Amino acid sequence: MSKKISILLKMLVFPAAVMLVTGTLGSMTGAQAATQSGSKIEQLTQSMSYAEYQKRYEKYYGNFTAQMAENGNPADFLIDDGKDLANKVVGSKGKSCASCHGKDALKLKGAATTFPKYNAKLKGVMTLALQINTCLKNQMGAKPLKYESYDQLALTLYVKSLSNGMPIQVSIDGPAKPFYEKGKIAYYKRHGQLNFSCAICHVKYAGYKARSNLISNNKHHADHWPCYRLKWGKTGSLQRRFRGCMKNMRVKKPPFQSEELRNLELYLTYIDNGDRIQVPGMRM
Ligand code: HEC
Ligand code: HEC
Repeated sequence: MSKKISILLKMLVFPAAVMLVTGTLGSMTGAQAATQSGSKIEQLTQSMSYAEYQKRYEKYYGNFTAQMAENGNPADFLIDDGKDLANKVVGSKGKSCASCHGKDALKLKGAATTFPKYNAKLKGVMTLALQINTCLKNQMGAKPLKYESYDQLALTLYVKSLSNGMPIQVSIDGPAKPFYEKGKIAYYKRHGQLNFSCAICHVKYAGYKARSNLISNNKHHADHWPCYRLKWGKTGSLQRRFRGCMKNMRVKKPPFQSEELRNLELYLTYIDNGDRIQVPGMRM
């Protein structure tokens, strides 16, 4: 294990020691690291190929989660309930999703493959969860669902499951481009009491251990969410997972569907372009 990595691991265990060693990590001071070379993107080398990372993952966790998912993923219940919700009339206009998107909302097959995407009215990135709440509010006269509530996750998961097996094809062209760039900057920005960035773990140290976890490679970070997580004992969204890592980084967590989290979601989903949607996932 290299010296830098052992320093990183010590930092995770002893956050108080961080201020002392920040200068060593990445061999520059925290302040300089945040905005280097004008582009604001710190140049980091990928620790290892995705294939090598996968080997390590299998060695570390075996096929534990895959086996559990085979025995039944608790998130499957949300998909069933999401289907019922898609046919349920709610709101002042007397409509259900099915009124416009067909029985069981089946016309939305494939729709999830293009999310998140630029939306002109929003002047920003529209996520699938936000689109569903926008339809509830504007098309149905219903109350938007609280993010991470059972019904909100169930509807999102159901609509996304209609695209299972289909390749992700998110666009970052035209008006989407600046939001993708902002997402990338957010991913590489060092901040919080520990002066970490997402990329330092998920690019530079992916495949190495932090505490009892293997740090994941950011390829395939978006294709299996919403996902059932054993640690939560619950199904949650990709943005909840972002916020979990932000908490570990001692960063102030942006609200669900805030601009920063939507841009990050676009950035990470674009990395998965061509990969097949497979919800619900299951993770430790
Ligand atoms: C009164 C008609 C209507 C109802 C009811 C409705 N929608 Fe929509 N939906 C639309 C329209 C119109 C669009 C096109 C984009 C827009 O204007 O928001 C759309 C877009 C979408 C999209 C994006 C499709 C794409 O390919 O980009 C999704 C996903 C979606 N709706 C989900 C839902 C869900 C889930 C519900 C039920 C909670 C629902 N909608 C209820 C009219 C409706
Ligand atoms: C200190 C290292 C560290 C930092 C910094 C960090 N993460 Fe993580 N992250 C982890 C670990 C460890 C996991 C658990 C991997 C697993 O579930 O297999 C994880 C998991 C994730 C996952 C889920 C991966 C999956 O396969 O489902 C996502 C998405 C994610 N992180 C995004 C982020 C984002 C966005 C940031 C920056 C805001 C960030 N992480 C910062 C260590 C880190």
